[in-house]
Amino acid sequence: MLSAGREALDRIRLRPRCLVDVSDCDPGTSLLGARLAAPLGIAPMAYHRLAHPEGEVATARAAGAVGALLTVSMFASRTLEDIAAAATGPLWLQLYWLRRREAMAELVRRAEDAGYRALVLTVDTPRVAHRPRDARNGFAVPDDVRAVNIDPSLMSASHGAAAGRSAVARHSREQFDASVTWDDLAWLRERTSLPLVLKGVLTPQDAQLALKCGVEGIVVSNHGGRQLDFAQSAADALPEIAEVLSGHCQLILDGAIRYGADIARALCLGADAVFVGRPVLWGLAHSGSAGAAAVLRTLTDEFEEVMALMGAPRVDCFDAAGITLR
Ligand SMILES: Cc1cc2nc3c(=O)[nH]c(=O)nc-3n(C[C@H](O)[C@H](O)[C@H](O)COP(=O)(O)O)c2cc1C
Repeated sequence: MLSAGREALDRIRLRPRCLVDVSDCDPGTSLLGARLAAPLGIAPMAYHRLAHPEGEVATARAAGAVGALLTVSMFASRTLEDIAAAATGPLWLQLYWLRRREAMAELVRRAEDAGYRALVLTVDTPRVAHRPRDARNGFAVPDDVRAVNIDPSLMSASHGAAAGRSAVARHSREQFDASVTWDDLAWLRERTSLPLVLKGVLTPQDAQLALKCGVEGIVVSNHGGRQLDFAQSAADALPEIAEVLSGHCQLILDGAIRYGADIARALCLGADAVFVGRPVLWGLAHSGSAGAAAVLRTLTDEFEEVMALMGAPRVDCFDAAGITLR
């Protein structure tokens, strides 16, 4: 449920400090060594060409223009190399765990060669969940939009429309490896020197296990309410996880980030940064790269203003004292 994520953020009220010198607020930060204009990245989302013909290349230009991070989905509709050529800011690559591990290994090699700076393994999706709207619409990825970085023989189920069924859900049952456990992370580690980020952690127990595996980052996320229905929202889950992980690895929150104030809320809860998803696709659909950049710029400008009004001139000024629950 997307609304739960929004409600969780809306319960959080900000508590500003006054008479602080905010004449020169700096929303800049760094995430796994990459300098960002604000603690803001784009969440991995498949098939940007569904929103705009230029797809992820346009999104990469937008991210670069505003100094945001772009996380490229394994199911991107432009090649990793074309996206990298258009990017002027940091790129991370997201992976689902496929049964055909060689396809993952190949993507990792290409990402390294193209200068991607981290891998994001999505761990809340052993299969794509039943999404009633997709099933009702018999959703399938149209033939002219392709996950071009993956062997087409592994993707055909995504394009097979059938009344009353979601092709992407069926595809995931065929191609995702639902047997993967913590022990398998070693296989991925052996194939890369890139930092590893796990996306979709919602409990302190799993955060602890992730820490034991030595991951460099965690995205606290319920997949924007698109996976486990009635899952706890990321904002509600974050404080307990931050307690376990604080100072040990980077913490990112995603889901329902829609205002600059949400970035401040996430930082107060213990996050180092946030990811934003759907609004970027809305901007992209509206006016391509310029539209996506406008969304990111609005969030950044709003956040800078919140910093000033909160008496928090730097991102490390935000802490639990800056919020209260309604
Ligand atoms: C159209 C769409 C495609 C997505 N594709 C992926 C994906 O390929 N990999 C992934 O880990 N998450 C995927 N997600 C989930 C997002 O990364 C993110 O967790 C979610 O959208 C929450 O953010 P939002 O409320 O800002 O959209 C997708 C979300 C949307 C809306």
